[in-house]
Amino acid sequence: MHLAALLSIASFASIQAFDFYVLSQTFQPYFCTTGNFAGCNNPTDFMKTNLTIHGLWPNNNDGSYPSFCSDETLSQSTIDQVGMDVINTYWPDVKTNYGTTFISNEWSKHGTCSDMAQLDYVNAAISLETQLGTPDIISSNVGSSAVGSQIRAGYGGANMVALVCGSNGALSEVRTCYENTGSGPGNRITCPQTILNEDSCAKKAGKKITIYSFNDN
Ligand SMILES: *[C@@H]1O[C@H](CO)[C@@H](O)[C@H](O)[C@H]1NC(C)=O
Repeated sequence: MHLAALLSIASFASIQAFDFYVLSQTFQPYFCTTGNFAGCNNPTDFMKTNLTIHGLWPNNNDGSYPSFCSDETLSQSTIDQVGMDVINTYWPDVKTNYGTTFISNEWSKHGTCSDMAQLDYVNAAISLETQLGTPDIISSNVGSSAVGSQIRAGYGGANMVALVCGSNGALSEVRTCYENTGSGPGNRITCPQTILNEDSCAKKAGKKITIYSFNDN
């Protein structure tokens, strides 16, 4: 095939080149202190102790990321195939009381740049979420606190995770990194420095990170 023809196929499919994926997860007991969100009044048992998906984000080593790569919307058929019970457990939208706005927005902003079909994108995010799980050092210290280095050790060490904290030092988000295979996320990798720089939780030796419970709301 001629180069021009190859280039035109590539531009038609708008194939995105990016360096790696970030799985960003939310700790809902903290998120629910940041606003008066309807879903926070009836939290699932899962989100009381386990992180849920914020998004699966194509990312570049320099810190930039592609976004809104097409105007394809998340379809009802994809939502039906995944199932609202699964979405409400692993990718809940507490702002809209367990609706589909959040996952749809994440697909539009990040998923359309992932080079995956939408069902594959949603399933890939859920698969990473369930494989990673939530380390015991977090789950067993809900409503209390844990030493930052021990939480990072629960994720494989300080270069494997970015812990994001609110201004009060409470755990808000966890970011982990995965290789870009060209057709979805691959193995977990050391996070590039641009992601590690997003770690805003206590880093000094012995310093503790607050882990909210829904009772703190
Ligand atoms: C939280 O996740 C762990 C695995 O990381 C799992 O064993 C546990 O059952 C989950 N908790 C709930 C309430 O589902």
